Amino acid sequence: ITEELDSVEKELSVILVRQKASSPEENWNGRFAWYEKMRKESPFTFDEEAKCWDVFSYDDIETITKNKEVFSSERPIEGERNILNLDPPRHTQLRALVSKAFTPRELALWKPRIEQITESLITELGAKAEFDLIRDLAYPLPVIVIADILGVPESDRESFKHWSDILVASPKASTPEAFAAFRKTRSESIAQMTDYFLHIIRKRQANPQSDLISVLVEAEIDGQKLTESEIQSFCGLLLAAGNETTTNLIGNTMYALLESPSRYEQLRKVPSLIPSAIEEGLRYRSPVQAIARVAKEDFDFGGNKVKAGQELILWIGSANRDETHFPHADQFLMERTPKNHLSFGKGIHFCLGAPLARMEGQIAFEHLVKRYPSLHLADSFQLNPIVSGFVYGLKSLALTAN
Ligand code: HEM
Repeated sequence: ITEELDSVEKELSVILVRQKASSPEENWNGRFAWYEKMRKESPFTFDEEAKCWDVFSYDDIETITKNKEVFSSERPIEGERNILNLDPPRHTQLRALVSKAFTPRELALWKPRIEQITESLITELGAKAEFDLIRDLAYPLPVIVIADILGVPESDRESFKHWSDILVASPKASTPEAFAAFRKTRSESIAQMTDYFLHIIRKRQANPQSDLISVLVEAEIDGQKLTESEIQSFCGLLLAAGNETTTNLIGNTMYALLESPSRYEQLRKVPSLIPSAIEEGLRYRSPVQAIARVAKEDFDFGGNKVKAGQELILWIGSANRDETHFPHADQFLMERTPKNHLSFGKGIHFCLGAPLARMEGQIAFEHLVKRYPSLHLADSFQLNPIVSGFVYGLKSLALTAN
């Protein structure tokens, strides 16, 4: 996990420079102009500074994600690999095992709990006229849900939330000392969290329950089981891959709805549009803007000579604005139902948590439109984007409820 987060931070400054954005605020919208320019002028291009290929068009990204023989997910990392950064055959085996914990049956079992958690978070807001959608709902919801699904007991929730907070935090100051201190705290928290997972794994081995860790402990294919360290690593991946992304799905979609308030009004009147609004939110303001692959062998991509070992950054946030697949791509059209967006990836690594994320989004919006017939950006609202090239979302979203 640390490895992944560090590489994101390292690439961050490079990415802001590459997108020619002077600030995160400018980058929030400005990145789409950059994508458009690149799609027109240079859709498959080698960046000499970042030493990687940038891929912007829908069709090229789709081709690459489908060609797993050449374009590998096994980028160099330290430590235990998890399914996200493994190729077949190991990926196929592990994915089959962990998929057992994400079946429609499991999902149906989680639904009432997600309803309950959402309801209690909204009840906690009470009669507040102003609240922060991220702090008060979009952030805690997926963290509590995943803790619940994993089987973290109520009494350990505070520590769990604390580790999770640190995992997604960014350094407050940019001095080398502050950055070193920040990294130290983060490594310590990750170590504590991984130890904690091991503690639950061992408990569930001895005494299985009905939670996800028990399913993972017991899952078996051809007599083969997951090792303890594979389960630990997978739990870490669920936290890293599932929480901030779902927060941003809710936050980004709400922001798109309130940028033009008649959209929220329409959704309130016709709640059956919620699934379609969520898909459009995923397309229009994709929580994950880019994924990466590495070439295993030399490959001639329409005259572009990709060499073995070179990395490719696939800008799915750009593919989702590609006019050849989405007419009027720069407009948020709630009725569009863009099932073919690439926000959850494509091919063998297609997001395992997509149905869960969709369900959480659906339940959150159902409760919000019911509880708040009128919702606006608060006067105190300030655009406060997460500083990242890959992760796309808002750190806060101040709303007024009347
Ligand atoms: C993979 C996005 C929520 C678990 C992926 C990938 C994307 C993605 C783009 C593919 C990465 C690649 O091909 O390199 C998202 C978004 C989410 C979300 C936008 C929310 C809106 C979740 C949730 C979970 C989850 C809630 C689990 C609790 C995973 C896992 C993988 C994955 C395990 C790896 C699958 C594999 O490699 O076979 N996700 N994700 N994600 N996601 Fe999600």
